[in-house]
Amino acid sequence: MKIIRAKDYYDMSRKAANIISAQVIMKPNCVLGLATGGTPVGIYKQLVEWYNKDDIDFSEVTTVNLDEYRGLPREHPESYWSFMHRNLFDLVNIRPERINLPDGTNLDAAAECARYDYVIQRVGGIDLQLLGIGHDGHIGFNEPGSAFELGTHCVDLTEETIEANKRFFASKEEVPRQAYTMGIKTIMQARKVLLVANGAGKAEIIKRAFFGPVTPEVPASILQMHPDCTIVLDAEAASLI
Ligand code: F6R
Repeated sequence: MKIIRAKDYYDMSRKAANIISAQVIMKPNCVLGLATGGTPVGIYKQLVEWYNKDDIDFSEVTTVNLDEYRGLPREHPESYWSFMHRNLFDLVNIRPERINLPDGTNLDAAAECARYDYVIQRVGGIDLQLLGIGHDGHIGFNEPGSAFELGTHCVDLTEETIEANKRFFASKEEVPRQAYTMGIKTIMQARKVLLVANGAGKAEIIKRAFFGPVTPEVPASILQMHPDCTIVLDAEAASLI
């Protein structure tokens, strides 16, 4: 586990974007595992800027996203499909047929999770998985208490996650109650993991996850066991370590 301290959100975003860019340069046909949420927005912005300067080429890249709300139409502005198109896919030369997300509109959870695991296997596994971290230590939608050995599965969102995500919806009632997520096993099988966090609100969980015991109660703590995990933090998120 390697921890990189950045000055601020902008610096964190640029450092993480540099790591992703290096991955794409080293292996142009790599498989990038991508995340949504507030934290990676600056990373995607930086990657788009470099794409516009001809410094990065996504034409051979395949993407697999971590998660998607179950039951939300793709076109809903808060679906992760919409988020990814708005922040990255529509702005660079990724081929639409190489973009993969769990299909939240398929309500048959068992079939959808099996399909998504097969997609990840068929593309040859994930070269670099980008992750954010929840205040309770969740990664993807793997909430505290999640079994470490799961592949893609359907989860009930915790009250804390619904509360944290309501800022993106008109009201709390509109936040979907379930999601499809890659499991911890899938994430741990990625050849490289890049976790990013910023802000004072993440300082405590960063300390617990990476300097405390490895426990399902703090899902991100399992990353201590990953052979190639890089964590990029701004000064506030790193303030307790
Ligand atoms: C997003 C995801 C989540 C977020 C986490 C942090 O695809 O799976 O685990 O990474 O909730 O979210 P932010 O970045 O909004 O603090």
